[in-house]
Amino acid sequence: MTHKIAPSILAADFGNLSSECKMVNQSDADWFHIDVMDGVFVPNISFGMPVIHAINKIAQKTMDVHLMIIEPDKYISNFKKLGADILTIHLEACNHINRTIHKIKEEGMRSGIAINPHTPISSLNDIINDVDLVCLMSVNPGFGGQIFIENTYNKIIDLKKLIEQKNSKAEIQIDGGVNTSNARKLVDCGADILVAGSFVFKSDNPIETISNLKNI
Ligand code: DX5
Ligand code: ZN
Repeated sequence: MTHKIAPSILAADFGNLSSECKMVNQSDADWFHIDVMDGVFVPNISFGMPVIHAINKIAQKTMDVHLMIIEPDKYISNFKKLGADILTIHLEACNHINRTIHKIKEEGMRSGIAINPHTPISSLNDIINDVDLVCLMSVNPGFGGQIFIENTYNKIIDLKKLIEQKNSKAEIQIDGGVNTSNARKLVDCGADILVAGSFVFKSDNPIETISNLKNI
């Protein structure tokens, strides 16, 4: 099975959000990646519910919502109503991760868990069979356009081993600093979904850039 591409809307031109979303619809992209930041869990604020509502009206592909917020439990049903198909929360932001993951599933969404670059793969041992997706942050979350952290390759290999050992169905997503120079190696190590923000939206031809990431 080939890998999926999820352009991160954080890097889009918000003055032309509708045409940016239409571009993603027309491209080889598989998912919309939507970053929600609260200024507490990460040192930045992105956008909130009205913007996601606007994206959902145009998006014709899977809505993959990445929450970089504390206390995500408070908003799980809101994100379902806003059209999220996949809801990813951060391990580091939750006290009762098992409960949060199951709430997401009960709402009828696929559940994802994201971990920061310094969080070990072993911290997923007892949750890997409950999640549909693991998002490995390959930059420190909070901003687009950062440099890819090379240690991510080792983490993918370790995560892949854990998934196989435990017979988990979780897919591996890589988020941050993805481009055509590292995409091949990421997929070879075991990545299933590549998120790419600036590399897509700041390029001269985003449709072609998405195809290039898809056809590496
Ligand atoms: C970072 C976000 C990423 C970001 C990726 O906190 O979670 O999804 O938008 O952007 P690039 O691809 O520019 O690193
Ligand atoms: Zn993200």
